[in-house]
Amino acid sequence: MKEKLQSIKEEALKAIESADVPEKLNDVRVRFLGKKGELTAVLKGMKDVAPEDRPKVGQLVNETRAAIEEVMEDTRRKMERAIREEKMKQEVIDVTLPSKKNMVGHRHPNTIALEEVEQIFVGMGYEVVEGPEVEYDLYNFEKLNIPADHPAKDEQDTFYINKDIVLRTQTSPVQARVMEQGKLPIRMIAPGRVFRSDEVDATHSPSFHQVEGLVIDKNISFADLKGTLEVFAKELFGPETKTKFRPHHFPFTEPSAEVDVSCFKCGGKGCRFCKGSGWIEILGCGAVHPHVLEMCGIDPKEYSGFAFGMGLERIALLKYEIDDMRLLYENDIRFLKQF
Ligand code: DAH
Repeated sequence: MKEKLQSIKEEALKAIESADVPEKLNDVRVRFLGKKGELTAVLKGMKDVAPEDRPKVGQLVNETRAAIEEVMEDTRRKMERAIREEKMKQEVIDVTLPSKKNMVGHRHPNTIALEEVEQIFVGMGYEVVEGPEVEYDLYNFEKLNIPADHPAKDEQDTFYINKDIVLRTQTSPVQARVMEQGKLPIRMIAPGRVFRSDEVDATHSPSFHQVEGLVIDKNISFADLKGTLEVFAKELFGPETKTKFRPHHFPFTEPSAEVDVSCFKCGGKGCRFCKGSGWIEILGCGAVHPHVLEMCGIDPKEYSGFAFGMGLERIALLKYEIDDMRLLYENDIRFLKQF
């Protein structure tokens, strides 16, 4: 019996030694110590041992079992440590490697300029509204006092979807849309994209942006328009800014004007920026034509108003001293990230 136990132990230790992964150790456990294992079989054979020898044999079996278990556990611990160390070596983090930088985007100069314009008018109680970019000829032209044969239509040649629908040439049709809703008084600005069949150059693009403004209430006069735009120009270009209203013609306003601001670069003395004149044109405006009010369902005897429209790109180019509008559309990150 003793020899049998000794040989089981030797075989078990050999099997443990040759095990190279924890799974193989498990097989050894099953083979020698498991329910159907070799050592268990010896215990089961105790009934054939003489009763007086049983305690002695039992003790021997337990000792053998303990010896095998001890070596097995020891081997398992060593194996697991080796595996862990190998894994750590593979997962080593090199803290000296340069990190991957996240590229954080930011607002386009057009957007920055628009937000500034919006903030100024919202501060004066204006609402910001939007209109469709694909617009009826009726709103883009007819309701703004530009009938089919009007020469102004020629100046604003655009892309026709069909004979009644165009890509809007200006944000002014939003005026007509808002007036038609009949909620008075009105104090709104309408920023958005507009289209004209223009060739691309430093100051033109077939697609650009405008910001429209409209105020309709009782007793609104040209003086209100002047005051409003003066405040606007000072907020946008600085408190020293002067404004000049030059008579002009727009079909949907009467009287109409173009507004210049004193050059914020030279203060009005004349420089390269203002082409020597001391003034920079920024927008068109006027008192809303009574015929436009009528066409939009507003009684011109009771209500009056003013309107204005400016090119957003022009504002952005002026504010950031950019001399070519194309730079705004080329999406060159080296250019855009400067703002
Ligand atoms: N829509 C005009 C244009 O594109 C600009 C304009 C002028 C808008 C006078 C107005 C205005 O609201 O009153 O040239």
